[in-house]
Amino acid sequence: MIRGDIRSLSAYHVPDSTGMDKLDAMENPYGLPAALRKDWAKSLAGVEINRYPDADMAALRGRIGALDNLSADHVLLGNGSDDIIQMLLIAAEAGPCVVPEPTFVMYNLISRWLKRPLATMPLDKDFSLNADAFLNVCSREKAAIAFLACPNNPTGNLWPEEAVRKIAQNIRGLLVIDEAYRPFAERTHADLIKENVLVLRTFSKLGWAGLRLGYALGDPELIAQLNKVRLPYNINSLTQHSANFLLDHMPVFEAQAAEIRHERERVFKAMGALDGLHVFPSQANFLLFRLTGKGQDATTVFEALKAHGVLIKNMHGQNGLLAQCLRVTIGSPDENGRFLKALKEILA
Ligand SMILES: Cc1ncc(COP(=O)(O)O)c(C=O)c1O
Repeated sequence: MIRGDIRSLSAYHVPDSTGMDKLDAMENPYGLPAALRKDWAKSLAGVEINRYPDADMAALRGRIGALDNLSADHVLLGNGSDDIIQMLLIAAEAGPCVVPEPTFVMYNLISRWLKRPLATMPLDKDFSLNADAFLNVCSREKAAIAFLACPNNPTGNLWPEEAVRKIAQNIRGLLVIDEAYRPFAERTHADLIKENVLVLRTFSKLGWAGLRLGYALGDPELIAQLNKVRLPYNINSLTQHSANFLLDHMPVFEAQAAEIRHERERVFKAMGALDGLHVFPSQANFLLFRLTGKGQDATTVFEALKAHGVLIKNMHGQNGLLAQCLRVTIGSPDENGRFLKALKEILA
């Protein structure tokens, strides 16, 4: 009844975080300020949930495009950016998907669901990307599509602009520059958009993860083709309405992102002062770190943090380059304080 390769997969696991500081999923810790929450809730009462949502969403696409000085026909909306990754992998010509390794797991997972071959190009030990080597793999494998997460998850680094530009200018297939962490990074690559290059974004990390709204910015002809494999009504009415409401309040979310960037630097410094670990520089809302002390083990530290009420992500075992690595999301100052205190105690 069910394909053998699907049977052998495990379902995406989300660990129980009840009662813990949840620093495992790159969420914004702040939530809506009380007054805004009240107005938002009041406005939601007017949504007609007996009707299907607006299918075309031209006005919402126009507002989102305008954030980057682009028009509605440059914008495709997804039920989270995962939804758009799936549309891309459905619609791209037959042929391999090429990604650096390690990177965001959904490129790999959705390729497997769709029986699309996948080729990976290992990053260097310091997680840097060799643009020529990446282009060589794309050309050797005849890549139909390639993904570059900028900044990369789970490593947090942003590859040099020249490297991404070189790949965008020379790749043959489709290139997706995934800017999920745009609010925390020093630059965008939106200027590289052309007939085979698009930029992927999400509102999840900015504070709307529960709404599930992602978008692609691209050439109108490419967006129109991708739109053919978008499920009708993929963005529900409550999300559309909420997005329209919240877009009027972008400074609130930009200020929260600035606070998170500030906290990231504080936590980075504090971790850097601890013995027995190496913390990698990040342009995202998380930090990747490696345990370097004698006899220390990532899984033991991960479990000990859990026992202290702090849930982060254990990356050990996912890829050779991530040996003894853990990833922590930047939370509120209080959450970060509790994480740092627990980590210090565990490493002492
Ligand atoms: C690089 C990258 N892209 C895309 C996503 C998916 O985000 P969403 O589906 O919430 O928009 C994530 C989530 O962690 C991510 O790290």
